[in-house]
Amino acid sequence: MVASPQKTPKIMVVFGTRPEIIKMYPVIKALEESPFALYTLNTAQHREMVDMFLKTFAITPHQDLDLMQSRQTLAGLAARLMESISPILEQEAPDMVLVQGDTTTVMMTALAASYLKIPVGHVEAGLRTDQFYDPFPEEINRRVTGQLAMLHFAPTPLAAESLAREGVASDRIFMTGNTVIDALLKTHERFPDVNYPSTLGVPEGAPLILVTAHRRENWGEPLIHICQALLTLCEGQTDLHFVFPVHKNPVVRDIVYPALENHPRIHLVEPLDYVQLMDTMRRSRLILTDSGGLQEEAPALGKPVLVMRETTERPEGVAAGTARLVGTDIDTIVEQTLRLLNDEAAYSSMSRAINPYGDGTAAQQIVAALANYFGV
Ligand code: UD1
Repeated sequence: MVASPQKTPKIMVVFGTRPEIIKMYPVIKALEESPFALYTLNTAQHREMVDMFLKTFAITPHQDLDLMQSRQTLAGLAARLMESISPILEQEAPDMVLVQGDTTTVMMTALAASYLKIPVGHVEAGLRTDQFYDPFPEEINRRVTGQLAMLHFAPTPLAAESLAREGVASDRIFMTGNTVIDALLKTHERFPDVNYPSTLGVPEGAPLILVTAHRRENWGEPLIHICQALLTLCEGQTDLHFVFPVHKNPVVRDIVYPALENHPRIHLVEPLDYVQLMDTMRRSRLILTDSGGLQEEAPALGKPVLVMRETTERPEGVAAGTARLVGTDIDTIVEQTLRLLNDEAAYSSMSRAINPYGDGTAAQQIVAALANYFGV
């Protein structure tokens, strides 16, 4: 399958949220060093959380749509995305549009490009829970994008299999690994040792747990339970500290701050930059999260992850033994956390550094596949 444009093919990379910029950063850098013409578009589905990472990665998008609104709805954001992306696609006329992951930005960009018959390349394709509404709306976004994409860059063999099962032709599926590992390895060594937790007053040597929670499935009761589990853990373990970077979403903040802000060993902080986050991860004994990216980064750093969700579209970490699904039941979170804190054998069986999500060459492989497709 080779397309043959007359000129240097132009690739438009579109992103709008924090995980997309982290995972597209290696692809953007690889494209900059390639013969392709590159155009970067930030929908700014997120504002501060994306700007912070653009700065860290020294990326200046060609265009910024500045779309974020406080407490935006899925429908409102989707409509604004469609209206704003379409004229830019028409004007820039890229030969291919690359999107990453499962956000509203991804799905609406893929649809807008498809309406203009511009082929779409989907980075991190093929993740599935096979539960239509879980994670919501990400499973829907992935399935729709999977139907629209021309090229599918699958992070793992399992993701590639899911695409094949859905009828995607094998010459359109590329098993590249996940670009999150490229980003991690690219930055891991050159990042300074900032000892971020010490700036919050976490004593040297105290057991530390990094916590994040923001997903729609966990809004309401589940998030309240997560907060209660942290308080219970603090009561039982008097030297235990938590660093909890709280997502900017007001729905999340309205629950987390009132529940936890007065505890001296639960450090609620603004979303961390990449240096602070990696540093905190490295210094944590384990990670409690509902995030997708952390489930991929933690195994690479040999950190056990307890995933506070009922399902995961990233079962590879669970299969490899570094991640475990614990849901949002208070007792289960407490029990599983205590086990990792106090049972050395249980801890060491979960803390082996493995990379089920790639070897750090995903971006190069994606660009090579594009070069092959365009005959460059
Ligand atoms: C979005 C993605 C989710 C991804 C997450 C990563 C969708 C449907 N959801 O969820 O898949 O895991 O990003 O963080 O695409 N806000 C700010 N500043 C920011 C970012 C967000 O104030 O920099 C607030 C705004 O009030 C905004 C709200 O958070 O309306 C929700 O943002 P949105 O992108 O709609 O959903 P997320 O929950 O962030």
